[in-house]
Parts: sequence; structure tokens; C-alpha cells
Amino acid sequence: MNRPLERQFRSLRVSLTARCDLACHYCVDPNAAPVKGSELKSAELAQLVRLLDHALGLQKIKLTGGEPLLGQKTEDFLDALGPLPGPEISLTTNGQRLAGKVEALRQRGLSRINVSLDSLDAQRFADCTRGGKLDATLAGIEAAQAAGFSVKLNMVPQRGRNEQDCLPLLEFALARGLELRYIELMPMGHLRGPSFDAQFWGMQDILAQLRCRFELVESHRPWSSTALEFMVPERGRFGVIANHSRPFCHDCDRLRLSAQGELVGCLSSGQAFNLRPLLGLNEDQALARLRPLLAEALATKQELSFVGSALGMKLIGG
Ligand code: 5AD
Repeated sequence: MNRPLERQFRSLRVSLTARCDLACHYCVDPNAAPVKGSELKSAELAQLVRLLDHALGLQKIKLTGGEPLLGQKTEDFLDALGPLPGPEISLTTNGQRLAGKVEALRQRGLSRINVSLDSLDAQRFADCTRGGKLDATLAGIEAAQAAGFSVKLNMVPQRGRNEQDCLPLLEFALARGLELRYIELMPMGHLRGPSFDAQFWGMQDILAQLRCRFELVESHRPWSSTALEFMVPERGRFGVIANHSRPFCHDCDRLRLSAQGELVGCLSSGQAFNLRPLLGLNEDQALARLRPLLAEALATKQELSFVGSALGMKLIGG
């Protein structure tokens, strides 16, 4: 088990593209300038991921975006990556195109999918996502479950936007054997600043809502898992990622790779390390260049709690 003194990166999030067909309020700044610079090809990202796995012995890889199911990015990435003996690979998606992708993902060995689902009300879903179709995401969830995927749901409650959906989403998840995770809003990018508190709907608010309907029992948090886990006796369980109320920075083992080939060791630091120059090197040379960058990225990790970041989630992946 990984102890604080031996802190190491074990879990990698790869943003396959910063493009997205939705524009969720918590993720996208409508006033942001378009992203400059080109994105790496899927095969180039796969090459960097193989190197990172070689250097770190990764336990988990999560594919994210933007939206990773736009175009063929995920399929191309998985084909180029080939089988890796160690890490378990999962995907986070908005679900809009998931129903049509389930078979392609299953064939490529994926077995876990996280779907963002911020409301079960079609109007509020469209509002939260700026135009998303609830039916499409629900069809994606159903198709993924029918194909045997383990499906988790992510919900980011926001005051005045979707806080009334916390309870219906838990009912929905428990009835279908889906693991729901409430994710406290993070002050990323455009959310930083005085209006953040007005939008924040935290763990205590969520639990108070749920306790009106369910008995809840908190269970022990596994080492370096971001989610606090709650049991609903005889019904199932759910998680709360309480990055604000109960920070977990001290044992965070996550590392991020952007679609532009930048490595980010900590969301709070915002410092990025460009891995593009490694692409032209042979494996030994690339590993020799990578190791000191990983040490630097590890040193950027925040010790106590998330302090907000100028980075937008859209670039670096949720
Ligand atoms: N705060 C919390 N979670 C966020 N995500 C994106 N931006 C934020 C934010 N500001 C997460 C959501 C979403 C996933 C893709 O990224 O959980 O489901």
C-alpha cells in the first residue's frame, strides 16, 4: 500500500481531446478564448501513456476529455495502446454518444465507465449541460449496463441549478445497481472568485437532503480513494467526493496528461510539463528525460487542500 512518505503517482487521467459537444456550467467558461496549440494524435498520446506506465507502474488509467467519445479518439487510442498488463482502464463520458459506442469499447477490453449525469429532469439536464439531451445519456447508461459494463454516475450539485436532483438521482442509481458519486463543485478556472460560494452545494447539504428519505451509514474510506462511501442499508451504496469539505490531497496519487501532451501533477498548482519532446526519442532516452519531470510534477502536489486553479477542467479532464 502506498504511504504518504512514499508518495507516488499511481493513477493517470488522460484527456484525449479538449473538445466537447456539451458545455456544462461547472466545466466550461463561455468567455474563454479558444484553446491555442494542436492536440496530439491518439497514437502519440498512447505512446506517452505507455512510457508513463513503464516509469510508474500505473494502477489505473482514466480516459477523459473534453468528451472522449467524440469521433474515433478513444477507439484509436485503445488500438494504439494495445494491452497493458498492469493498469485498469476506465472512461468518463457525458453519455451523449455512449449507446452507439458500447460495442466498440467492449471489444477493446474496457469494462468500467463513468457517466456524468447532473439531473433526471430533461429541462434541467439541458440547462446544466447547455443543450444536452437527457434521453441520449440515459440510453447510453442502459446500453452500457446491458453490455455488462460497471457504470458509475457522476453528479456535481450546484445551488440554484440542480440541487433538487440529488435525491431522485440516488433513487435512480439504487434501483439500477449503479454507483452514484456526488462531486463537490471545485473552484476551477472561471469558477474561482466571489460567486463560488453562492453556487456551492456541499456534502452536508447533500446528506441532509438524502437523510429525509434514507438511513445512511458512512463506511471507511479506502486508502487514496477520493470518495467517501455511504451505505444505504439493504439498498446499496453511494459516494461523495468531498474535495472541499473533506480534502484528500494528502494521499492523492493522480497524475494528468492533457491532449496537448502536458503533464500536470496537481490541479491546485496548475504547473504543466510538456512531454511532446519525448515523442521523437527511443524508449530509453525518453524514460531518462521523463523521470526527472515526474519528480518535479510530484513536488507540485498540494499537501492539504485544493486551493483552486486557473486551469479549466475542459482542458485537463474531470
Ligand atoms: N467541479 C467538480 N467536478 C467537475 N468536473 C468538471 N468540472 C468540475 C468542477 N468544476 C467533473 C464532473 C464531471 C466530470 C467530467 O468532470 O464530475 O462529471
